[in-house]
Amino acid sequence: MRRLVAMLGAAALALSLAACAGESGSAKKTDGATGGSSVGVVTWWSAGSEKQGLDALVKVFNEQNPNITFENQAVSGGSGSNAKQKLQTDLAAKNPPDTYQAHAGAELSSDIAAGYLEDVSSLYDEFKLREAFPKTLMDALTVNGKIYSVPTNVHRGNVVWASPKALEKAGIDPTKAPADLDAWIADMDKLKAAGVAHPLTVGADWTQLQLLETVLIADLGADGYLGLFDGKTAWDSSGVTKALNHFSKLMSFTDPGLYQEDWEPAMKSIINNDGNVAYNVMGDWAPAAFDGAGKKWSQDYYTWPVPGTQGVFDFLADSFTLPVGAKNADGTKAWLKTISSPEGQVAFNTVKGSIPARADLTPEQIKKFSDYQQDAMKSFGKDTIVPSIAHGAAVSIKASEAMKQAISKFTSSGATDVAALQKELGAAAKN
Ligand code: GAL
Repeated sequence: MRRLVAMLGAAALALSLAACAGESGSAKKTDGATGGSSVGVVTWWSAGSEKQGLDALVKVFNEQNPNITFENQAVSGGSGSNAKQKLQTDLAAKNPPDTYQAHAGAELSSDIAAGYLEDVSSLYDEFKLREAFPKTLMDALTVNGKIYSVPTNVHRGNVVWASPKALEKAGIDPTKAPADLDAWIADMDKLKAAGVAHPLTVGADWTQLQLLETVLIADLGADGYLGLFDGKTAWDSSGVTKALNHFSKLMSFTDPGLYQEDWEPAMKSIINNDGNVAYNVMGDWAPAAFDGAGKKWSQDYYTWPVPGTQGVFDFLADSFTLPVGAKNADGTKAWLKTISSPEGQVAFNTVKGSIPARADLTPEQIKKFSDYQQDAMKSFGKDTIVPSIAHGAAVSIKASEAMKQAISKFTSSGATDVAALQKELGAAAKN
């Protein structure tokens, strides 16, 4: 954990993103006449199960703040692929929203360095959050003694979602996770031989980066993976080569027809349990989509940690900011209060699939969470925690963008040039 903390601290010093000129952000209004106001909130929870999570949170916000109107400024695109670009333009043009979604950890380093964000440490005292959040999370949020965002949740990234109907075709037991990546690949060979054309699916570049990070964790181990971010593990080391060869092999089982899709279309066959696809690696925002389709965990779909990552929790936390120059800073503070309150965290996370960022919920409140989520809470309490690359905990936005480009180049040209990918990932990591 000490290394995770040091790594996150170092990332906070990363250089700021180049400012991009251009379009302005959404309008923000205050309505002094009625004593009310509106708070503009940027997320990428614009559709499907993710929007349902946001709606549940907004309901609590409206109850707690009848005089403030929630203004939905969501920008579609999983993992914030479009929202982050628009935000960088708006922040550079000094046209910030009242608050925006980001990930706890290195992702905010450039915004902090550029002076885009207010230190919200005093709100942690006012709302009594310091004791409510676990140390792991507080460490990820703290940059040189200051805190720049407030988390809504914790998600896990290294989860395999498996379709029993597809596995049946090859006589594979869905309840038993393969011991390691090689055993998993052997199962995919069996599935292919049994007529499952695409044993594994991935979608757009960020989903491929997420798959890759879990393979890096499996092959390097938690410590070796953490070393990638503090320089103790070299990107050109043989451990990384081994992981990239595994990644190349895994990509050979996927359907290139889905490479431009968001996570939900790439997961669809598994949600439907139609037997055409066996596995997808995705974060645990997925349960909400399974729930929405009336599917039951450990019956209609199975989950286990990516083989080789047992006992490791690939962590990310969505959090919200107070930008410098926000037009309705009081509205933002009210938003940050709701999202961090026990009521807000229960309402949001029970729908979103994540676990609450707060570690002090009552047994009654915890009972409201699904079996999957209660299991994830236990894992978060005992597993080794490592930060996600694809979801902003481990590296700067610039680095993850460059890694996505390298991966797209690799996968769109047959996913075989491991040496070129390794070189480009090493260069990307320097951002
Ligand atoms: C992540 C985010 C999750 C979920 C996911 C897919 O970056 O932390 O809450 O929204 O993207 O869009």
